[in-house]
Amino acid sequence: MTGRAPVLSVRGLSVRFLMPGGRRVAAVTDAHFEVRAGECLALIGESGCGKSVLASALLGLLPGNAQTAGSALLGDLDLLTADERTLSRTVRGRLVGLVPQSPAAHLTPVRTIRSQLQETVAALTPARGRAALRAAAEAAAERAAFPADHLDHHPHELSGGLAQRAATALALVGDAPLLLADEPTTGLDRDLVDRTVDELRRHVDSGGDGGEGRALLMITHDLAAAERIADRVAVMYAGRIVELAEAAAFFGAPGPRHPYSRGLLDALPDRAFTPIPGLPPELGALPDGCAFAARCDRATDTCAVLPPLTGTVACHHPHAALTEAADRARTA
Ligand SMILES: Nc1ncnc2c1ncn2[C@@H]1O[C@H](COP(=O)(O)OP(=O)(O)O)[C@@H](O)[C@H]1O
Ligand code: SF4
Ligand SMILES: [Mg+2]
Repeated sequence: MTGRAPVLSVRGLSVRFLMPGGRRVAAVTDAHFEVRAGECLALIGESGCGKSVLASALLGLLPGNAQTAGSALLGDLDLLTADERTLSRTVRGRLVGLVPQSPAAHLTPVRTIRSQLQETVAALTPARGRAALRAAAEAAAERAAFPADHLDHHPHELSGGLAQRAATALALVGDAPLLLADEPTTGLDRDLVDRTVDELRRHVDSGGDGGEGRALLMITHDLAAAERIADRVAVMYAGRIVELAEAAAFFGAPGPRHPYSRGLLDALPDRAFTPIPGLPPELGALPDGCAFAARCDRATDTCAVLPPLTGTVACHHPHAALTEAADRARTA
């Protein structure tokens, strides 16, 4: 996996919202990561930490009061500086497929799901003619576990879970090399969560012109879904990526290295079921040092200085890495 080419390379991505009165909201700060062909990177973190803003930046969908810095390269194209014509004609749908966080807002209210799927098939694939369009639309619905007997319904006639699956079906139609899924399992019960993420995984594994695979950036607060399909995990806290890890080491042994990542796993009902105390800081009033300090049981005076992302973790006192843990076990 590591030998494969990056489909997306994000370098120093920051997003600031300029608010009335001159206040600035630091929604994303200095994000660095790659998503490689055939890989699923799960971006996890509590609500409000900047995950969807990051996704919007990659699609050129930020509101007018946003300022960006850094770069996000998809091949030779910098998504942060691409003009709207390029974004709408070649990026959204064709190069980047989006499973949106609010499917209802992305479905056209006055059209049936079938007609929206067929229109997308016609726009993004070589399929032509009524029968071919109909078959391709039905196949896309099937892949996203959208029931065939609801294809002639309008969006308002669908439950939240069905609208989510319709949006997933639309995102899978184009053969986009990068799939960006923002909370793709919202409103689904566990069986459907599994089915949806398995389909996303299959889509990643099967794609690419030379069979080298597509790439998936899956934003989620559903850690079970992340564990099921992710190759790597990026943990976001207060607008910063504080840890990047191989999924197997993160969810298994030796576990996450950043105290916040540990806290996320410990909060799960099937683990320690102990919530992280306190709340994340306001992104408009971040402390100078580590933003997690007020909630962290490992904090010391050193943490008043911002910890840089060295290697794969941004923390002055991280938990042991695999080699350190293995060494300790050997010498114990
Ligand atoms: N248009 C905007 N103007 C100002 N602040 C915004 C805007 N959009 C999002 N934010 C702020 O950015 C932060 C991150 O939001 P978001 O990316 O939606 O979080 P999440 O991680 O839950 O997806 C939130 O604090 C939110 O209030
Ligand atoms: S830098 Fe300090 S406060 Fe921040 S997570 Fe690490 S130990 Fe905790
Ligand atoms: Mg979000």
